[in-house]
Amino acid sequence: MKPEHNLRRGVWVALVFALGGLAMAQKIATRTVALPNTPVTAISGRSWLNHLGAFVNETSMGKTGQWGPAPSEEEDLAKVRAKAPGGEIAIGAQASGTIALTGADLYRLECQGCHRTDGRGVPPEINSMINPVRATSPELIRKHMEEMGAPMTAKDARELASQSQSALVQRISHGGLHMPGFLDLNTVEIQALVAYVNQLAGVPGAETRQIRMNEPTTRVGEHLIKATCHICHDATGPKPSAQEMMDGMVPPLSTLTRTRSLNEFVAKVTEGAPVSMGVLELHYRGRMPVFYYIRPEEAAAAYMYLTMYPPGTADETDAGSRAAAPANPGRKSGAKTNASQ
Ligand code: HEC
Ligand code: HEC
Repeated sequence: MKPEHNLRRGVWVALVFALGGLAMAQKIATRTVALPNTPVTAISGRSWLNHLGAFVNETSMGKTGQWGPAPSEEEDLAKVRAKAPGGEIAIGAQASGTIALTGADLYRLECQGCHRTDGRGVPPEINSMINPVRATSPELIRKHMEEMGAPMTAKDARELASQSQSALVQRISHGGLHMPGFLDLNTVEIQALVAYVNQLAGVPGAETRQIRMNEPTTRVGEHLIKATCHICHDATGPKPSAQEMMDGMVPPLSTLTRTRSLNEFVAKVTEGAPVSMGVLELHYRGRMPVFYYIRPEEAAAAYMYLTMYPPGTADETDAGSRAAAPANPGRKSGAKTNASQ
């Protein structure tokens, strides 16, 4: 064969490989995976902050860095209600539907309220998850050790990485000292979360291992309520008076769908709304952060979930919010006194 021929063939081979690689990368970039049928259960028990004995204003947990609109003569609840996104969303029509979630979406619903967009948390209260996740990659372990001047065999790196992988899954399921456990996440949901936090931590190739799931709408609501809203809101209890709100009480989840329409609820979560507090019932900006990264349909799913699975009806003896196994310390109520009582 003439050299020029060879060259041309080389170019072709390279091109075919490149295209093949591209097609494959696109195909495997985000796989849709079928979910096991995980039962939806009602939320119960005290808020995570009450469990820890902490006040809303003493912690970075559940804070998004954005606050609702300052109340003015222009901005009252009626106005907020009128400009609520999406108009009335038909609950019945949506209840039987599904919402497509990627690992990144699951991260927003489950983890972002504490660990922020970048996974770095708010140290020292909320540790960064970046290094523990990087420690699950044999490639990054070897690179790191080489940079430290102590190269490691591939086998040793794989062993270390596998230990870190188990520790990560254990951490997500069972939580930690100040982190709630997520025991009712099924294996596919955990897999999707792990794939996404790998991408967040810059683990090489992680973007090609992302997963998409079609979650029942009530399950999406369950994720948001149990992981994010339950940080501050107890499941059940009396509706606080305007004065008690002023003193720092947070209305329990069981009262929210009774006192708020779907639109008001979605608006409070996604763009914020003033609250009336104190003896004079004046309007205030309030203490609840705005969850600007939660989509209106996800907030609506939370409303639907609270309506269809009324809080506190699960297992009254289980003070945790997630379906907790006996040995699980996460999401379970300890003997600590409830600071807001
Ligand atoms: C209510 C707040 C909160 C939520 C929600 C939360 N975490 Fe955490 N996380 C913490 C705190 C606090 C720590 C520090 C360790 C401790 O006190 O338990 C932590 C630590 C971690 C660590 C270990 C860091 C280390 O130093 O080893 C990882 C990994 C982690 N979280 C992952 C996640 C993932 C993944 C999610 C979502 C499924 C999540 N967390 C949801 C509060 C939270
Ligand atoms: C950081 C703590 C915190 C988190 C997390 C939180 N809330 Fe709140 N929420 C509050 C406080 C405090 C109030 C009382 C009003 C205020 O100060 O804004 C409140 C009030 C509300 C109200 C209005 C109740 C009323 O009758 O006026 C709704 C609705 C609500 N929360 C829904 C949610 C939902 C849904 C989530 C989860 C996406 C959530 N909250 C997460 C602290 C929190």
